[in-house]
Amino acid sequence: MCGIVGYVGNKNSVPILLDGLKKLEYRGYDSAGLAVPGNGMVEIVKEVGNLSHLEDAVSNNRINGNLGIGHTRWATHGRPTQANAHPHNDCKNKISVVHNGIIENFIELKEALIGRGHTFHSETDTEVIPHLIEECYDGDLFEAVQSAIKDLEGSFAIAVICQDNPDLIVVARKDSPLIIGIGDREYFVASDIPAVLNYTKDIFILQDCEMAKITSKGISITTFEGEEVNKDIFKVKWDDEAAEKGGYEDFMLKEIYEQPKAIRETLRDKFGKDGEIIFEEVPFGKEKACELNKVVIIACGTSYHAGLVGKQAIEQWAKVPVEVDISSEFRYSNPILNENDLVITITQSGETADTLAGVREAKNRGATVIGVTNVLGSTITREADGMIYTHAGPEIGVAATKTLVSQMAVLYVFALYLAKCRGTLSDEEIAAIACDIQKLPDQVEEILSANGKIKDVANKYANCADFLYLGRGIGLPVALEGALKLKEISYIHAEGYAAGEMKHGPIALLDEGVPVVAIATKSKVHEKILGNIQEVRARGADVIAVSTFGDKEIEKVADHTFYVTETMETLSAILAVIPLQLLAYYMAKARGCNVDQPRNLAKSVTVE
Ligand code: AGP
Repeated sequence: MCGIVGYVGNKNSVPILLDGLKKLEYRGYDSAGLAVPGNGMVEIVKEVGNLSHLEDAVSNNRINGNLGIGHTRWATHGRPTQANAHPHNDCKNKISVVHNGIIENFIELKEALIGRGHTFHSETDTEVIPHLIEECYDGDLFEAVQSAIKDLEGSFAIAVICQDNPDLIVVARKDSPLIIGIGDREYFVASDIPAVLNYTKDIFILQDCEMAKITSKGISITTFEGEEVNKDIFKVKWDDEAAEKGGYEDFMLKEIYEQPKAIRETLRDKFGKDGEIIFEEVPFGKEKACELNKVVIIACGTSYHAGLVGKQAIEQWAKVPVEVDISSEFRYSNPILNENDLVITITQSGETADTLAGVREAKNRGATVIGVTNVLGSTITREADGMIYTHAGPEIGVAATKTLVSQMAVLYVFALYLAKCRGTLSDEEIAAIACDIQKLPDQVEEILSANGKIKDVANKYANCADFLYLGRGIGLPVALEGALKLKEISYIHAEGYAAGEMKHGPIALLDEGVPVVAIATKSKVHEKILGNIQEVRARGADVIAVSTFGDKEIEKVADHTFYVTETMETLSAILAVIPLQLLAYYMAKARGCNVDQPRNLAKSVTVE
């Protein structure tokens, strides 16, 4: 949802800004731009399309300087045109701003500014910001920004520079992420940590309603009201390579192959020496678990699918009813919640606007909220009552893969934790399930190394216009996720459906041209799904199945089968999803799609 960067120091800012933007491209790639103070005015280069266009434009332009700001855009207000690309300037082209977020009252601000003689060049909400700052500016940029942001409603992370002071960046944040990397007499501003990892691992994480004055000589952080803030330095533990492709063609493929490690790392701090289950940041012990009335899981997209898997584990092991809701529906649903209810909110980015709004709604109604995220310091970590972290490392590909399996893994362990607190499973049962959970990383590894034929199958079906994904029980969220992955990166229409529901409508879609992907891993409904596959075949559709190694029955009914390792039914979702990620990946590659940057999407959706 847009990425912003900034640099001030003693080096040429341009390559550093471009490098930072490259790491943030997952946040948007409709256009990109840079601003560097130059000869009498702030010099701007901006181009439509992904960063490569900006890189070409910059190489034909002698723009350079020791300070600069940059932006990569995911269009919200105004189409992806050059005029709408950031940075945006004031009337005199002295003040330049990059912005991530949405200014909700921009129409009234813009009308008032035009009425006072300002000229606008774009359709964006952002452009009001430099003009407001211009009105407040009398030589002190920090004070001007501090005054101007009082008029802004909505969300913003901004970086502002001014021609008059080529050694100063002013930044401010409200409801959009912003971090500051600390170097040796140099500072790096960014929407997310990977953008600065090549230069530093020492970070200040700006919180809501904080702003900073940054020069090559030092930094001062205050609240919007001017109160000084003393911040601890956050030391990033990822190595630089975590945010690089590491020899893979795309981030998505790298991240698919990183899944065993992601699950292993995620599980590492959840199990103690004596089989103890540890959730350090969860204020939810035995007493609360026993009083628990119901659990509500809220999330969007792939995280929602992890929630559907979590529901089955919690209901089965901890015997508590679980509802799973899409955040954007939940927030306006007038949810019935009280202090005996637990809300689990799943968001890999920790920044999804609908999910954060759902959290506020749940807290207002007295429920305890536990967040599941992959990003330390993200907004959810401040809003939820307790946190569960996945440790998947940075996920750059827009399509969630390793964060999904890590989410599933922590939900399995949390379900077990609730079962232990509530006494719904014996110690022996808990130990057996914990043992199976800890085998998952090796099992994912096994599946990844036996995926040889997925690419051939993908090539065979890559030109089909429609796909149906069918699953039952624990296979249903897997089918939904498989269909979402295919849609988002290959632009093929795919529907995920409960296999038993097919005869109530979607069966009408089937003919020889609509392949069906069926999740048929070993389960109590295995016979039923085999029956559904027969119904599909009778309509001429080809069947691609996901089943368990050793399943002889499936070979008789499916045209192609991808096998996964046997595990207990509830855990099988984490394994069955792996071949579907690869199927979507290879299908998208066969169609020439950019899998890391699918059209119209962004990694973190910070707008409603
Ligand atoms: C996943 O492949 C998608 N890009 C998307 O559905 C994503 O899962 C959704 O936007 C939720 O994001 P979050 O986990 O960061 O909240």
